[in-house]
Amino acid sequence: MLADLMKKSNYIIVYSGAGMSTESGLPDFRSAKTGLWENEDPAQVASTEAMNKDVERFFEFYRKRVLGVKDCQPHIGHELLAKWEREGIIQGIITQNVDGFHSVAGSENVMELHGTLQKVHCQTCGREYENTRYEEQAYYCECGGKLRPSVVLFGEMLPEETFMKATRESEQADLFIVLGSSLIVTPANQFPLIAKETGAKLVIINLEPTLFDGYADLVINDRKIGEVLEEADQQL
Ligand code: APR
Repeated sequence: MLADLMKKSNYIIVYSGAGMSTESGLPDFRSAKTGLWENEDPAQVASTEAMNKDVERFFEFYRKRVLGVKDCQPHIGHELLAKWEREGIIQGIITQNVDGFHSVAGSENVMELHGTLQKVHCQTCGREYENTRYEEQAYYCECGGKLRPSVVLFGEMLPEETFMKATRESEQADLFIVLGSSLIVTPANQFPLIAKETGAKLVIINLEPTLFDGYADLVINDRKIGEVLEEADQQL
């Protein structure tokens, strides 16, 4: 079914969430027991307030995530998406993920709505550093400012240019494939709707039901992303 829809489409945009990286060994946010927000309150560790009020806890939370990304790597699903882009089968990826795995796997047109853990920058002067500063617990800039990951924290705006580009790509898509997102967080969850409202067919591949399954032309709830993409690749 997924391969059939892909074969009939001319402009395919993929949209990924944390469920795309659980098969790489990274936890998602809302899966029962294993999701990051099952054990941490995002407001306490992943917000601008947290960075200002309890910066040691903020540093430690993001150091664990930076180390986690370094311990893991893209899986076959990321690699297939990069291959499909090279073959002109898909045209781009809008991702909520900050692990950078789509780019590491070789995808080029990747729109990182929530930024990336691959870089950190100074909250005061904006100077950029490698994320190794977090590994080394070197949390302060030469100007004295706090170094924070280049991710979008709760309470911050999404990067304007990326947001606009993701909007244009969603409008241009005639097939929009959601991979591994609960579609709970706004405004990132608007893109599947924009695609659907501007004429795309919508596919949602997610282990659990999502808020938008009712809008989808195809929902796959009981199979993992890697397996579904591998099967589709064999049928393309
Ligand atoms: N295959 C398919 N689906 C999966 C897999 C898998 N291997 N692993 C997990 N999932 C599904 C889960 O069932 C879950 O519904 O992926 C979904 C991930 O949802 P969330 O954990 O809510 O992650 P996401 O939608 O990306 O969260 C959005 O919330 O906290 C913020 O900034 C953070 O970008 C994140 C945003």
